[in-house]
Amino acid sequence: MDREIEFRSYYEPDLSLCAGIGVQVFPVVTGGFAGKEISQVMEGQVDSCHAVCNYHELAVVDGAVVGLIFGWVSSGCVVMDGLRRLRRLLSIPVRFLLGRYGSRRKLIRYFGPCLRAVRVARRNAPGSQAEVVLFAVSPGYQGLGIGRALMDRFVHHASKCKARVISVTTDETLSFRFYERYGFRRWAEYRDVLTSYCSGGRSIKGFIYRLLLPEANGLAPE
Ligand SMILES: CC(C)(COP(=O)(O)OP(=O)(O)OC[C@H]1O[C@@H](n2cnc3c(N)ncnc32)[C@H](O)[C@@H]1OP(=O)(O)O)[C@@H](O)C(=O)NCCC(=O)NCCS
Repeated sequence: MDREIEFRSYYEPDLSLCAGIGVQVFPVVTGGFAGKEISQVMEGQVDSCHAVCNYHELAVVDGAVVGLIFGWVSSGCVVMDGLRRLRRLLSIPVRFLLGRYGSRRKLIRYFGPCLRAVRVARRNAPGSQAEVVLFAVSPGYQGLGIGRALMDRFVHHASKCKARVISVTTDETLSFRFYERYGFRRWAEYRDVLTSYCSGGRSIKGFIYRLLLPEANGLAPE
């Protein structure tokens, strides 16, 4: 790509920009919503992913945010990780109750499938110390190496934190081939309860991929 890609941390005012990218690349998530609620629901999605992650990076081209990766890397202490995550998660129910994420009545219907999806993901967990949670590049900027650059930086960070395995949960409606191209290997395949629910009951396959990190041989660029 001719133009320079810059990287920076995510801040709260970036929420609507990131949700705007999400609305374009994750249409299934907001399939049951219309009008203003589409971006509100996606803001809820971005906020929730932000809360469960401790790595948040944006790709910027000519001053515009064009991509994002949110991930989680274990600090090595399960209790500390849990407490930090809980603290970040506290604002989500409050915003939900205030109606910031759209109709509470409609959203409540997603709770059951969400919990079932978490259970399935737990059952298939590949024992990773790092996870990619939200990853997207704006459609007009895809195919230019921005996704690979964002992933390289996350892999580098995870390696520095001594992670041995990075995992990602994805599904057949998404760009799962990116992970195969990058070197991830498929670890599990199952019916994706949540995406199937969002797709009006059509059976959608979910996948978990994992990437094994070589032990400190500098996989990612400095
Ligand atoms: C996945 C995504 C972030 C990749 O970003 P990107 O900037 O387009 O990716 P890159 O241009 O860096 O591509 C890196 C490599 O992956 C390959 N690739 C990217 N998307 C692909 C796809 N959908 N199918 C097959 N290969 C793909 C590219 O060909 C490239 O291969 P190469 O380096 O060997 O030439 C982007 O396609 C996206 O936002 N998709 C929609 C949202 C999504 O599915 N997110 C991930 C779900 S968990």
